[in-house]
Amino acid sequence: MLIPIEGVLSKDEVREFRRLLDQAPWQDGLKTAGTLARAVKRNQQLEDGSPLAVELGNRILRKLGNTPLFISAALPSRIYPPKFNRYSDGGTYGAHVDSAVMQVPGTSISVRSDLSATLFLAEPEEYEGGELQVEGPFGIQAVKLAAGDMVLYPSSSLHQVTPVTSGARVASFMWIQSMVQNDSSRTLLFDLDQAIQGMTSAVAADDPRLLKLTAVYHNLLRQWAVT
Ligand code: NI
Repeated sequence: MLIPIEGVLSKDEVREFRRLLDQAPWQDGLKTAGTLARAVKRNQQLEDGSPLAVELGNRILRKLGNTPLFISAALPSRIYPPKFNRYSDGGTYGAHVDSAVMQVPGTSISVRSDLSATLFLAEPEEYEGGELQVEGPFGIQAVKLAAGDMVLYPSSSLHQVTPVTSGARVASFMWIQSMVQNDSSRTLLFDLDQAIQGMTSAVAADDPRLLKLTAVYHNLLRQWAVT
């Protein structure tokens, strides 16, 4: 399931990110492309582990830790340090599937990619093209969100970024290992949690029906979570 999460970064934060990123030394994305990706990847990336990538990545992680919708949807156990990319001048990333397991550079930690996330750092009006297209059970879904918004999608899905024909598309992206690996189980928990959250304003906090549903949520999570 595709899950949009609005306002991970405020517009002020986006402006600050862009002030730093627009003058950053971008590198050819081919440097980090695997054998198959080389044929379809044409973009620029910020060097992993550079001071700017680390600083901005940590700021994003702190914001995500305070974003209840993200926690509810992803149930994260590990997050790969956020990366940054830029598409312009026809830049594109053809259909591909993300690698299943990623080693965090300079550490012995590996992250299984259950969810992929794109955090948009350019407004849709700033560029033409550059849609994220994700293949799912109901066909292809195209995503192009406001700056500061994020989309989560299953890493198992085939996806692509269509050519940017004018302007520049700047984004951060990352992979998430979830406590609940199975996508449909995680989606059930998300739906249940959102329904419970929606009820809390309508019923008393000690309403027995609310307590029962909350217990079901936690007991399912207890069965399925691997930490
Ligand atoms: Ni990808």
